[in-house]
Amino acid sequence: MRPFSFLVRPARRSPRVVVVTGASSGIGLAVAQQAAAEGDHVVLVARDEASLDLAAKECERAGAASTLVVPTDVGDDDAVQRCIAQVLDRHGRVDAVVNSAGVVAYGRAEEVPAEVFDGVLRTNLSGSMNVARHVLPVLLEQRHGSLVLVGSVIGHIAAPGMTPYAVSKWGVRALAHQLQIENRDAGDVHISYVAPGGVNTPIYEQAGNYAGWAGRPPPPAISPERVAKVIHDRIDSPRKRSQVGPANDIMRLGFTLLPGVYDVLVGPLMKLAALDATRPLEPHTGNVLGSQPGLNRLRGDQVASIIAIPRNVVTRLGDLARSAQ
Ligand SMILES: NC(=O)c1ccc[n+]([C@@H]2O[C@H](COP(=O)([O-])OP(=O)(O)OC[C@H]3O[C@@H](n4cnc5c(N)ncnc54)[C@H](OP(=O)(O)O)[C@@H]3O)[C@@H](O)[C@H]2O)c1
Repeated sequence: MRPFSFLVRPARRSPRVVVVTGASSGIGLAVAQQAAAEGDHVVLVARDEASLDLAAKECERAGAASTLVVPTDVGDDDAVQRCIAQVLDRHGRVDAVVNSAGVVAYGRAEEVPAEVFDGVLRTNLSGSMNVARHVLPVLLEQRHGSLVLVGSVIGHIAAPGMTPYAVSKWGVRALAHQLQIENRDAGDVHISYVAPGGVNTPIYEQAGNYAGWAGRPPPPAISPERVAKVIHDRIDSPRKRSQVGPANDIMRLGFTLLPGVYDVLVGPLMKLAALDATRPLEPHTGNVLGSQPGLNRLRGDQVASIIAIPRNVVTRLGDLARSAQ
């Protein structure tokens, strides 16, 4: 070790090529911004081009080596193939791909229309596979690179009123595990899986909704930047599985070790903490079948749980009192 080497700043690594799906909003946007702040080349992917252009401008201001906007629906396999080809044309390689594109639909399973149910699976599950299908051969050929799939704690538990999302995220978790096993001897090619709990993003306002009430992140909701940090950590030091959220392990333990208690409590707890009783909604498809550009942004506009939960209790009690009159 050279004397006083601790005073020398570590050399800045050369810029990576980082592809982010869902890059115009929430967790994906935070991942793109953090890659930009690291001086990486950032490729921004989602459906709405104008939202991606805004995100690209933010990345340029944050210090990105370059930005490339590739409007793509991850549910469309041919479009994903063209997207990755465009990245290779521009950069000649891919160092990391983070698949954060995702959508939600609320409502009892049989009340969510078939096209919305299929739409959630198409983006969340088929989209993850489409991305893997076209990224993995590139990483394997390069003998280097990371693919990070964003799942959810809901891929480890059951959540009434979120069946399409739960089915899709159990699928993403299974997919990640399958890909990890199939590529366990792939040297410097890594597949990581990150499962956030409640995160304060617009996904709850964006959701298709047949439940009658707006959704909200279950407490304790963390910031999209915090999840993005874990995702970047997984790119730098890949690990197979990652829960991100202070309550994830409690939910998973309850689901696994006390299934009877879990099944009784989860419905009332969801109504109390994961729906907003002050925001009644007409049935709608949300962003499941197409982008709602006006709602793409870093954070959601939900009030904190410490306000929302007592407000839900008061609202429900008021409803009960009125119906008893
Ligand atoms: N927020 C949470 O509490 C939470 C918790 C656990 C897991 N997650 C997961 O984290 C990921 C990111 O969620 P978020 O909360 O950041 O959501 P968000 O703020 O709603 O962002 C979703 C992003 O995905 C894009 N997108 C949606 N459908 C797409 C499609 N078919 N093709 C390409 N892009 C698409 C959206 O842009 P366009 O609509 O313009 O395409 C947007 O950029 C999702 O996989 C979600 O399931 C979120």
